[in-house]
Amino acid sequence: MIIRAEHLTKQFKTLRRKDGAWAALANLFSRDYETKVAVSDVSFDVAAGEIVGYIGPNGAGKSTTIKMLTGILVPSSGSCTVNGIVPWKDRQGNGRQIGVVFGQRTQLYWDLPLIESFRLLRAIYGVHESVYARNLAEFTEILGLDEFIRTPVRQLSLGQRMRGDFAAAMLHEPKVVFLDEPTIGLDVVAKEAIRRFILRVNRDRGTTFLLTTHDLNDIEKLCERIVLIDHGQKLYDGSIDGIRDRFGRKRVLTVELTNDCANIRVDMPGSHVVSRDGPRMTIEFDRDLVRAEHLITALAAQCELKDITIAEPELESIIRRVYQGGADVLKADVSPTLAAT
Ligand SMILES: Nc1ncnc2c1ncn2[C@@H]1O[C@H](COP(=O)(O)OP(=O)(O)OP(=O)(O)O)[C@@H](O)[C@H]1O
Ligand SMILES: [Mg+2]
Repeated sequence: MIIRAEHLTKQFKTLRRKDGAWAALANLFSRDYETKVAVSDVSFDVAAGEIVGYIGPNGAGKSTTIKMLTGILVPSSGSCTVNGIVPWKDRQGNGRQIGVVFGQRTQLYWDLPLIESFRLLRAIYGVHESVYARNLAEFTEILGLDEFIRTPVRQLSLGQRMRGDFAAAMLHEPKVVFLDEPTIGLDVVAKEAIRRFILRVNRDRGTTFLLTTHDLNDIEKLCERIVLIDHGQKLYDGSIDGIRDRFGRKRVLTVELTNDCANIRVDMPGSHVVSRDGPRMTIEFDRDLVRAEHLITALAAQCELKDITIAEPELESIIRRVYQGGADVLKADVSPTLAAT
């Protein structure tokens, strides 16, 4: 296992601030701290070559986890290793074997042309000249860097800067790459370029990726596996299909009737009419209880059908359900794929 998190926990102590005129003074001497548990007893393993999506709503504890895995934060309890290294104990050693992209900020040198940042990083990581040249040529081609490689970073657009950040994170051929919202604010074309880049690096070099994102297209296009956390706790660890199976059982059948068929009825357990608008009728049914063909046959026996569509729920609506219901949704629906929390 190239990434291993065991009972990883991070608490932040923050001052409980008082309001009012005296409060500013009182705050100076206050010992009234409150503890915020950002990550609570999270365990997971990632095998070499995997691309794992680490997802959860705002404030779930994703960035805090990434910061522990990259050595920026020290865990309050529990432990983690990346390729055998304890990140916070050997930050430099870990730095040499990982790449990091934080979508919200850059590791490039603001006032220097992009290419100068790359040269500096080459020197810092001691990347061999031939390896550097090869990687730079490859990344320039995939990410289309040549248009702006001589431009100072502060003059780059967000999408250009992000592409620069990706190349910078990958020049030293890290075994593991952590991406915290790598596609935030990018247009669809730039997102596609970044995704292609991740898949290619993963395929050609077997690089392991752990990424957080709020864009579920990233997840669908990149990840076979997701780890879902909320309020610092792990709720799910498994395949995307697994989560679809458990929370995406509802299907929507829309039929277009040839005439009004005012008396048409649906009376199968596990199905109900959602809307009826002239010849158009929308029925929701539970895939596990009702077979679509039975439903359609029953309808067709009552009325001639002109058109039929069946829609699966989008991953987005499934994930929204889990976020809104939190741990309760998962507890109410125990199955073997459930994370042991
Ligand atoms: N340095 C800090 N001091 C105090 N509390 C913090 C600190 N960093 C994070 N937190 C708190 O820990 C919780 C988890 O934050 P974190 O940044 O890990 O969330 P996230 O899952 O990355 O969310 P987002 O999707 O919004 O980026 C939040 O409640 C946040 O307020
Ligand atoms: Mg975050």
